[in-house]
Amino acid sequence: MRHHWLLLGACGWVLLILMFVSKFISYRAVGGKPPDLYGDNYGQEIPGGRPTAVPTVAEWQSVAEKRIELLSTVCKNSSLRNLTHVSISKFVLDRLFVCDKHKILFCQTPKVGNTQWKKVLIVLNGAFATVEEIPENLVHDHEKNGLPRLSSLTPREITHRLNTYFKFFIVRDPFERLISAFKDKFVKNPRFEPWYKHDIAPAIIRKYRKNHRNSDLAASGLHFEDFVRYLGDVEGRRRMDRQFGEHIIHWVTYAELCAPCEISYSVIGHHETLEQDAPYILKAAGIDELVSYPAIPPGITHYNRTKVEQYFSGISKRDIRRLYARYQGDFHLFGYPSPDFLLN
Ligand SMILES: *[C@@H]1O[C@H](CO)[C@@H](O)[C@H](O)[C@H]1NC(C)=O
Ligand SMILES: *[C@@H]1O[C@H](CO)[C@@H](O)[C@H](O)[C@H]1NC(C)=O
Ligand SMILES: *[C@@H]1O[C@H](CO)[C@@H](O)[C@H](O)[C@H]1NC(C)=O
Repeated sequence: MRHHWLLLGACGWVLLILMFVSKFISYRAVGGKPPDLYGDNYGQEIPGGRPTAVPTVAEWQSVAEKRIELLSTVCKNSSLRNLTHVSISKFVLDRLFVCDKHKILFCQTPKVGNTQWKKVLIVLNGAFATVEEIPENLVHDHEKNGLPRLSSLTPREITHRLNTYFKFFIVRDPFERLISAFKDKFVKNPRFEPWYKHDIAPAIIRKYRKNHRNSDLAASGLHFEDFVRYLGDVEGRRRMDRQFGEHIIHWVTYAELCAPCEISYSVIGHHETLEQDAPYILKAAGIDELVSYPAIPPGITHYNRTKVEQYFSGISKRDIRRLYARYQGDFHLFGYPSPDFLLN
């Protein structure tokens, strides 16, 4: 009889311990609630409970390190493999800019203030004394601005830099990024980039808009719905993307641009928390005494769910789910929550 009670008691303890431990396990597993790498609630998590929401550079280090940890966990997830792993091709090497003087590599990801980062690196390389002195038209002219692409070096020089330099890039919410690219390239469509309107938009409409008339191609321009269908069509868009050339950098995944599972980046900044990330990156790269990041206009980096909902309203769940399937590697790699409000 005594034995039975002892056994029961022991079982109770084991159960309690299991329940306790499982709390931690479910928190840590990918798919559970991720740690707040996103920044929105960061103010509540500052150690020491200071009332102000602005963390110091030192406090930001743990956020930055958690992001890199998460990235390496997701890189190992075999079910996401074809969305997270790419080869270090010429396309990737073209995205990486070299600052030899301070041993820095910067992977260019459009629509997250990368022009500003290029200016910072151009100044560091010594071609200009301050960020303000760089003429706008020279920022993207890599023949003349003293900021070479990694692809312009020999294989040995490339390997050496990849292995030893400080490496970073900036990301933002993957769907907001696509909206931003759509607005910038197909709605605003500045006159000096006519190919988006004249070549790319008609090609996408022809293939992805049901019952389009030929007059559509010229007059109405690309709808966000056409763009979403094109982006979510894994097989169908391959040939088109080859024709579109470099321009696809505005919407191919961050994984395809920067190969984050192949190249071990030192820091990955988030656009949403640029106010914290920019000074942290300068400090981590050892250049905070030499340059500062240009002032960030208040409010422009915040994630705007209302805007995302507006753009996706009226687009079928099927198309949105296909888009998500294509971009979920980026959501997972960088700790962005999946946009369930659009998918379900
Ligand atoms: C890998 O990713 C998939 C898809 O998001 C997820 O369901 C799964 O839990 C992940 N596996 C591990 C081991 O984290
Ligand atoms: C990745 O592989 C899965 C099957 O494992 C497939 O359904 C999906 O279409 C693939 N995605 C890409 C982008 O190739
Ligand atoms: C979010 O986007 C909506 C719709 O585009 C806009 O009306 C609103 O002002 C934006 N909110 C913020 C805080 O920028």
